[in-house]
Amino acid sequence: MEERSIQIVTRSAKQTEEIGRLLGGLAEPGDLYLLVGELGAGKTTLARGIARGLGIEGYLTSPTFTLVNEYEGRLPFYHIDLYRLEGLGEVMDLGFEEYLSGRGVTAIEWPEKAEGLLPESYLLISLDAPSVNRRRIDFRAEGARYEELMDQLARRLKS
Ligand SMILES: Nc1ncnc2c1ncn2[C@@H]1O[C@H](COP(=O)(O)OP(=O)(O)OP(=O)(O)O)[C@@H](O)[C@H]1O
Ligand SMILES: [Mg+2]
Repeated sequence: MEERSIQIVTRSAKQTEEIGRLLGGLAEPGDLYLLVGELGAGKTTLARGIARGLGIEGYLTSPTFTLVNEYEGRLPFYHIDLYRLEGLGEVMDLGFEEYLSGRGVTAIEWPEKAEGLLPESYLLISLDAPSVNRRRIDFRAEGARYEELMDQLARRLKS
């Protein structure tokens, strides 16, 4: 069965990271994950988990002086944070196409800032915080690749 959306509630940052790790373990070349949510919603925490699932250890925070941090794991991992983006010109300079057409996996925080410049297939991950340590995570597939991925993720979450 093809899943279109999955909702999960986590009760700690560690649990959110663990969900990211499952996703990172399923990632394939060219995957694009959009991380949407308010400040402190847990986007970077989830991205850290994705990195772990790709076999990347060590420090991972949001890129601050650059918009992109690149890591080498089982696949390259591009962690992009557009929060500080000044204008769309800067996104064009980033050269999304190159990140997205390669072997790597791309996760973007604040993708709303690049509205209109992103591909039409992606996994949308929306986070919100109903209370201090609780996060609702909503996964939504746009495109066949991500429906398949959600199907696999749903199976992992059950086991
Ligand atoms: N269940 C949870 N899942 C994720 N983070 C949690 C959870 N409970 C508490 N937290 C805390 O919430 C914060 C989430 O911060 P994080 O940097 O991941 O957010 P963010 O969405 O990337 O914010 P920003 O928009 O500022 O980049 C961390 O301090 C983390 O410890
Ligand atoms: Mg962040």
